[in-house]
Amino acid sequence: MSLRLAVIPGDGIGVEVTPVALDAICAAAGVEGQTVDVDVLPWSADYFLSTGVTIPAGGYAMLRDEFDAVLLGALGDPRVPDNRHARDILLGTRFALDLYVNYRPVRLLDDRLCPLKSRGRDDVNFAVFRENTEGLYVGAGGRFKANTIDEIAIQEEVNTYAGVARIIRHAFAFAAARPGSSVCMADKSNAMAHGHALWQRVFKEIAAEYPGVRATHMYIDALAMALVLDPGQFDVIVTNNLFGDILTDLGGALQGGLGMAASGNIHPGRTSLFEPVHGSAPPLAGKNVANPIGAVLSAALLLETVGWTTAARRIESAVERVVQTGRTTPDIGGRLGTSAVGAEIVREIRG
Ligand code: NAD
Ligand code: IPM
Ligand code: MN
Repeated sequence: MSLRLAVIPGDGIGVEVTPVALDAICAAAGVEGQTVDVDVLPWSADYFLSTGVTIPAGGYAMLRDEFDAVLLGALGDPRVPDNRHARDILLGTRFALDLYVNYRPVRLLDDRLCPLKSRGRDDVNFAVFRENTEGLYVGAGGRFKANTIDEIAIQEEVNTYAGVARIIRHAFAFAAARPGSSVCMADKSNAMAHGHALWQRVFKEIAAEYPGVRATHMYIDALAMALVLDPGQFDVIVTNNLFGDILTDLGGALQGGLGMAASGNIHPGRTSLFEPVHGSAPPLAGKNVANPIGAVLSAALLLETVGWTTAARRIESAVERVVQTGRTTPDIGGRLGTSAVGAEIVREIRG
């Protein structure tokens, strides 16, 4: 089978790390005797500024119907201060393709990269499942008397039974496939008496379906602290859209920095989108210094999700060897540029 891949490099360092991730996919597929058909889509700040279009009409349906997976770099540009194109392209695709699972593994590849005292690889190895289609991200609310001193700005959080249940069930199913794993649900139900009471109820119901998986709960503020003091206690964390966004930048830091963190926006069985956790990092853009590993590990998640498990493992092992031998960008202590790290990863993939 050939993989039909849509690639959206986007903005800033997205343009530099995405080709590295694509090279890794093609190299791993090549070793396995598989082929990849790639369409590079120009959707970005440049595209918006020159055409007035964020995502063309029919763009979401095209991604869903014509591709097996989407690889995205990053979106965000100071010339688009309201971030409209990123909302349409990135958040829009999450919503339109109903990519309800935001899977963000947090795995330290080398003890030297951990910013915590006396912590290492055994301590930093967990998965965050971020709800990806609801919460404060749906855009419900409005601004009244905008730009006056009487302005009222309302941003409403949407939590549905079905939406909460499917992400929590996904987290439990993931943990159940890894014997000994626990699931920690994080909310703010002590303050958010409506929406987060729903999370509490659904979590208890679904935990009862998985008697073999230890279920724990923490308020999000306490969890943020625990992740810094004792990350080793966590296997699987499930939380809402905004909390998951914030926690996974913290997770990125535990892995050595945002440049190391990978993610998948997944609807199991359907076309899904993979991207590094980091953004477009405008100050780094165009300098060949961005760490491409988060993008490369996102490419591995992509291959794993479409069932190309051997190719995915090959990429992950190559990245581990490159990191452990210091063939890296300066943010994690190396001296190489983005593209040179890519060349080292491809060399390792090909063995
Ligand atoms: P950012 O992730 O771009 O950068 C945060 C910090 O991490 C910066 O210090 C940056 O230098 C560093 N960093 C990030 N990626 C790195 C890499 N690969 N290698 C080395 N260092 C790296 O976040 P920001 O500065 O808050 O946002 C910049 C723009 O990106 C904004 O427009 C924002 O909306 C957008 N953004 C997009 C995405 C996405 O497309 N998924 C994610 C986050 C932010
Ligand atoms: C992420 C990003 C996005 C989010 C932004 C760019 C809208 O921070 O993917 O983590 O908040 O989901
Ligand atoms: Mn984020």
